[in-house]
Amino acid sequence: MPWNPDQYHKFQAQRAAPFEDLLHMIAVRQGLRVIDLGCGTGELTARLAEALPDSNVLGIDSSAQMLAKARPYVRPGLRFEQADLATIEGEWDLVFSHAAIQWVDDHAALIPHLWSLVAPGGQIAIQQPANHDHPSHVYAREIASEEPFRTALGGWVRVVPVLPMDRYAQMLFDLGAEDMTVLEKIYPHVLENADAIAEWTSGTLLVPYFERLGDLRESFMEIYRARLRETFPGSPVFYPFRRMLFAARRAP
Ligand SMILES: C[S@@+](CC[C@H](N)C(=O)[O-])C[C@H]1O[C@@H](n2cnc3c(N)ncnc32)[C@H](O)[C@@H]1O
Repeated sequence: MPWNPDQYHKFQAQRAAPFEDLLHMIAVRQGLRVIDLGCGTGELTARLAEALPDSNVLGIDSSAQMLAKARPYVRPGLRFEQADLATIEGEWDLVFSHAAIQWVDDHAALIPHLWSLVAPGGQIAIQQPANHDHPSHVYAREIASEEPFRTALGGWVRVVPVLPMDRYAQMLFDLGAEDMTVLEKIYPHVLENADAIAEWTSGTLLVPYFERLGDLRESFMEIYRARLRETFPGSPVFYPFRRMLFAARRAP
């Protein structure tokens, strides 16, 4: 998928809050072996490495464009590789992922796979958006199902693989997880207007639509912006963003 790091970075400040929350869910120990799944442009991976004393951190991502921006952060104890989080193998004391696993299908299979990467006594800590019922997401699906976009997309609509949070709790329990925390939180963002919501989703949710829409991208965006303006006519606009965070420990 052709990620655009510059577009993604426009809302970097707003993404820091869930990262800090997830960081607080980690039991910090000296010298942890850490993997950051879907590390993107690497600044949060660098922040993670900084917060974990003497850690050895590997950030992986499937996007060469995003990883190109991560290069300046490389130092002893922090490196990056291009890899798929759905198939990566190995063993880590901390399996960490921030705003990435929502891009991988079939979470009923993914969570056991991610758990298999956790060393005995190790931890898993994951954050993913769970905002798919917000109009910003609903409109994207709606417009994709209307002509001429439906034909251009060959009927494709992004199906969000995120499950209700009790399913993650159940999967972790079934896998033998201990010290489990599973929660959802609304991150309250105040944006200038409805167009700013479209600007935000252009760097994330809409990326796979753009990839497939070709020349129809701008007309898709015009309709998308118009629908958001109708729903959120004022300024500023409140953008409540629901995210799911979960962490657990594997028995030693
Ligand atoms: C929204 S960005 C999050 C980046 C970073 N973790 C952050 O919070 O800023 C999602 C990232 O997940 C990556 N990604 C999506 N599917 C992936 C996969 N199957 N394997 C590895 N990375 C993936 C994308 O390339 C993208 O960089």
